[in-house]
Amino acid sequence: MLKKKALVFILVIALSSLLLAACGGGGGGGESDAAAEAGKALFEQDIIGAQPGCKTCHSLEAGKVIVGPSLAGIGSRAGSAVSGLSAEEFLKQSILEPDAHLAEGFPAGTMPQVWGTELSSEQVDQLVAFLMTLK
Ligand code: HEC
Repeated sequence: MLKKKALVFILVIALSSLLLAACGGGGGGGESDAAAEAGKALFEQDIIGAQPGCKTCHSLEAGKVIVGPSLAGIGSRAGSAVSGLSAEEFLKQSILEPDAHLAEGFPAGTMPQVWGTELSSEQVDQLVAFLMTLK
């Protein structure tokens, strides 16, 4: 009887440490964290090349409109914004072709249509990685 209890105890400990490892350690990956960090720094630049930076038009505070929509929670919304586009695809297109899918209530032609030339494709991916962290 005692032996059986001990066995169950060990099993529970083993299972919970497995669970902990799965939740805490896995996922993410250093590389995408670094990309998101670089994207955050880019997003926070006042000027990118000759253009006003992202943050001059986009707040990260829910509901706060500067010129463009707040990007708070965009990482959660992006996947369902346009059917057929993954969250990353939608975000990339929103940066490279701002008028392709207009955010509701905002006019076309306001967001600069220059990011495909002002930014390297790596920088665009970094911005996307950062926006994906805004859950
Ligand atoms: C001059 C102001 C301005 C700047 C600078 C700007 N945007 Fe925008 N952005 C807008 C406006 C206005 C919209 C809404 C119209 C549209 O969807 O294109 C928008 C839309 C977006 C959307 C889609 C949001 C949604 O809810 O669908 C994303 C993502 C975005 N911008 C990211 C960026 C990033 C990243 C940068 C910097 C590289 C940037 N923007 C720079 C004005 C700007």
